[in-house]
Order: sequence, then structure tokens, then C-alpha cells
Amino acid sequence: MRDYILLYVNGREHKLRGAQAFAPISDFLRLDLALCGTKVVCAEGDCGACSVMLGRPQSATADRLTYVPVNSCIQFAYQLDRAHIVTVEGLKLGAALNPLQQSMVDCNGAQCGYCTPGFVVALCGAANQLCGKQKEVNKAGKACLSEKQVKDALTGNLCRCTGYEGIIKAGMDFDLSAFKSFAELYDEKPILESLRQHAKEPVTIEWEGRSVFLPADLESAVQFLGDKAGAQKKVTIVSGGTDVSVVINKRGVTPAVTMSLCNMAGLDDLSEKEVDGRRILTVGARVTLAQLEHYFKDRVPQFHYVLWVYGSPQIRQAGTLAGNIGNGSPIADSLPFLFAMGADVEVTGPDGPRRIPIQSFYKGYKTLAMEPAEMISRVFIPLPKSDEILRLYKISKRQHLDISSFTAAIVVRVKHDKIAYARVVLGGVGPVVLRLTEVEEFLQGKVNKLETFKGAGRMARKIIEPIDDVRGSREYRLQLAENIFQRFFYEMHESKEKALV
Ligand SMILES: Cc1cc2nc3c(=O)[nH]c(=O)nc-3n(C[C@H](O)[C@H](O)[C@H](O)COP(=O)(O)OP(=O)(O)OC[C@H]3O[C@@H](n4cnc5c(N)ncnc54)[C@H](O)[C@@H]3O)c2cc1C
Ligand code: FES
Ligand code: FES
Repeated sequence: MRDYILLYVNGREHKLRGAQAFAPISDFLRLDLALCGTKVVCAEGDCGACSVMLGRPQSATADRLTYVPVNSCIQFAYQLDRAHIVTVEGLKLGAALNPLQQSMVDCNGAQCGYCTPGFVVALCGAANQLCGKQKEVNKAGKACLSEKQVKDALTGNLCRCTGYEGIIKAGMDFDLSAFKSFAELYDEKPILESLRQHAKEPVTIEWEGRSVFLPADLESAVQFLGDKAGAQKKVTIVSGGTDVSVVINKRGVTPAVTMSLCNMAGLDDLSEKEVDGRRILTVGARVTLAQLEHYFKDRVPQFHYVLWVYGSPQIRQAGTLAGNIGNGSPIADSLPFLFAMGADVEVTGPDGPRRIPIQSFYKGYKTLAMEPAEMISRVFIPLPKSDEILRLYKISKRQHLDISSFTAAIVVRVKHDKIAYARVVLGGVGPVVLRLTEVEEFLQGKVNKLETFKGAGRMARKIIEPIDDVRGSREYRLQLAENIFQRFFYEMHESKEKALV
């Protein structure tokens, strides 16, 4: 059993024990390594000032590290075992600025400069992804990042004083062919060898009455959960940490026993198979939201859009579907789709795996139908059929990086101009996500016309019990619930020629 976190920072090895293992990695970078380029502003994943690149091998046999941007303020050291972190200091070419850093200077991309390292890291991450791939060419004939690539990379980074024009220009203006990939900047061979050598070791660290366990597989994770449940000890499971770490930072909660899934092998499956004429997607508990976003791009554009506007790249690269389900928020963005498709959640405990329909998974506000000795291991999602019309709605104050005020999923199958089948799901209108079976029954067999959907909206309004909160009033949510059915009708008819799924 290993008793330290093995971490590489800008190519150098570190072993973290004691307090260091239980702190956000931004603390270690800034306070222990004096790498103060990484800034901490919000400490809750909202501003991107603390962005760093996180490199890991994608599989046990991978011969290179794959780098993704993450928010170091909500990545605790126990989430980063066997990883390579590249900070803004590690992006320089010796004493010289790299081409993107120089472009930020040339395009006046900074004023106070507090946000700048985060922008630089996020843009270098986008540039790194394109190394070795075909690139766009700008008017000056230079290989470059496109405006969309720059904007997509920066949705998780806030600047309060420069204005984005200079920053976006800097991102689009630098010569990508002069950019050195992280694999060129760092000799990955010894890092990979060391990471591989320590791959199958479970890790336990104890410090001042707290402990964290990093299982290497599902079996040892479940055994650990069973032992702790037997001793009446609550275990906080951490997957991407984008919920848990915020609670620790902002509410001062310090879990006594933590289990971090960052080293867990065998739960990264993302595969489809046909069962009774329908494609079923299996999503392992370690699959990130970013992987799902990529996966759904051409398969289910509606869900892809929900994932594209979900948090920011930094959040999606860390956060998981299992974590979104486990958090159990009534405004969790993945849930309307899972409810509409009739997904099953597989939980595994000492007695093995069992499947729980997502509709029965929530007993009340953030109360799950899971035993303390169980954890989510997989999710099975039936995918829409070609004759089903699916629409997903996220209503929030801004498009990206915002929590929903209201969510909805509506699926219908229309035959001979009548509704043969309907599923209706609303989120943000009660303590749990709701499937409105009465409205579904009302719709079934009715003529596919505006009046039918207006009637469904009026009915939905009577069933739900939303509350007033900072994201919207009760009356606003009632109106949204009523109106969403008309919007669905109009969208369905506007896009008749196009498949909507
Ligand atoms: C800046 C920011 C933006 C966000 N934007 C959105 C958004 O747009 N939409 C949205 O829905 N959410 C959003 N979130 C919330 C969060 O990112 C998601 O809920 C995410 O899916 C959580 O996944 P995770 O792996 O990080 O979960 P964690 O934080 O690791 O865990 C979340 C909960 O699930 C439990 N859990 C995790 N894995 C398992 C498992 N395998 N078995 C059992 N329990 C488990 C944990 O114990 C915890 O209770 C945002 C959060 C932040 C900080
Ligand atoms: S400090 Fe704002 S995202 Fe980390
Ligand atoms: S330059 Fe001041 S916050 Fe961006």
C-alpha cells in the first residue's frame, strides 16, 4: 500500500503526504513550489484563473500523455495521483515566451494580468490538441486557431478588465506551427514509465483524523465501502470533484473518510450494443463529461449541445456523468435526457452489481436509492430511435458556465399525425427531476397540433410545485413549464424535414 500521492509538475517528480495530500493542488503549486503564476480567485471552478494542464496516459498501454485543462482550485492532490501537471511557468521555451504568450503581449491581451495565466494555459491546451493535426490557416498564411476554437477553449475563463477582443485576437493571431507541444517540451518517457510502475498500487493516506483511499479497481473500492459501512463511517466518494471540492472550499466541510476514484481501472467503458432493436450505450463511472460531449456530437446533437454548454472545458474534463447523477441535483443537466431515455444506473456493492431505473433512483432531494456500501459503476442509456423526436432544454441566465433555472426533455413518436408515444421530463420544478406520466398519457393518441401541446402545458403547470430561489421565481418556472410544450411543437414543425435527434 502506497502512502503518498505521486505527482509530476513541469517535469519534476513530487511525493505528497500529510496535509499536502488533502489540499487543492493550487495550494501546493503556489505555497510549496512558489509557482505563483497559477492564481486563485473564486476557488469554485467559475473563473479559470487557476487553470493548469493535466496530463495522464489515456490507457494502460498509451505511449504518450494526453493533456486537458482543469481548475486547480477544485482538484485536490488526492485526485491527481499519477499525473503530470503543466503550469503557466512550464509553458515557456527556456527564457523566452512561447508564441501564444508573446501574442498576448503583442495584442494587448492583459491589463491587471490576474486572469492572464489562466487564459494562456487554456489557449495553449487548445494549441497542444492541434499539434500534429491539420490546422486552419489565417489571412497571413499562418497556421492558427479558429475563432470558434479560441472561444470554445475560453468559456471557462473570465477577465474583468481587459475585454475579450485582445485576448481572442491573441488566440487567433499566433503561429501554431511555431508552438511546441507538451510532448516536445517534456521528456514523457521516464514519467510514463514511473506512472505505469505505480499503476496497480492502492494508496492510503492518513492525516490528523482524516483519511483518503485510492482504490485501483472496483473490487477493492466496494470492499472498502463495505468495511466502512459496517463501522458506521460515511465515505465521501470523489470522482471529478467538481461538486465535492466546491463544497469543501466554500462550506468548510472536511470529510473524515474520502475515496478518490482517480486511479480506478475498469470503469472507463463507453460502448454501444443493440438490445431488442434499440442501441444501448454503456457509460463507465470514470467517463468524463468531455468524453461524452465528443461521443454524442454526431450521434445525438441535442444531448451534445447540453454537454457543450455544460460548465466549461475545465469542468467537463474533470466532471463525470456518475458524479452528476450522484450529486442528485434537481437541475443537473444530464438527468432530463437520462429520464427521457429510460436509463438504468448500475450500482455495485459487496453483493455485486444491480440496476436501478433512473426514475426510481431519487427518493427525495439529494436522497439516492443506493446503500452506503454501494457506488455507481455504470450507466446504461437507450439511445433515441430514428422515428423519435427528442428535444432537450436548458434555461439559464447565460449560455455557458451557468447553472440551469429550469430543464426539460420531451420525446414523441408521431404516427399518421397522432402522437403514438410521449415522454415528458422537467427539472428545477421540485426537489427531484420529474417524469410527468399524466401529461404523457394526455398526449398519447391525440392529434399532433398546437392545441394538444397547449393543453399539455396547462396540465404540467397544475402538477408541478416549483419554489422561488435565486435562479428564478415559482411563477417564472410555472410559465416556463407551460410554454415549453408550445416551443416543442413549433420546433418539431419547423424542422420537419430534418431529423431532430
Ligand atoms: C463551475 C461549475 C460549473 C458547473 N456547471 C454545471 C452545469 O452546467 N450543469 C450541471 O448539471 N452541473 C454543473 N456543475 C456541477 C458538477 O460539475 C456536475 O454535477 C458534475 O457532473 C459532477 O461530476 P464529478 O465527477 O465532478 O462529481 P464529484 O464532485 O466527484 O461528485 C459529485 C457527487 O457524486 C458522488 N459520486 C461521484 N462519483 C460517484 C460514484 N461513482 N458512485 C457514487 N457516488 C458518486 C460524490 O460523492 C458526490 O456526492 C458545475 C460545477 C461547477 C464547479
Ligand atoms: S480560482 Fe476560479 S476557477 Fe479556480
Ligand atoms: S486582465 Fe484583469 S482580470 Fe483580466
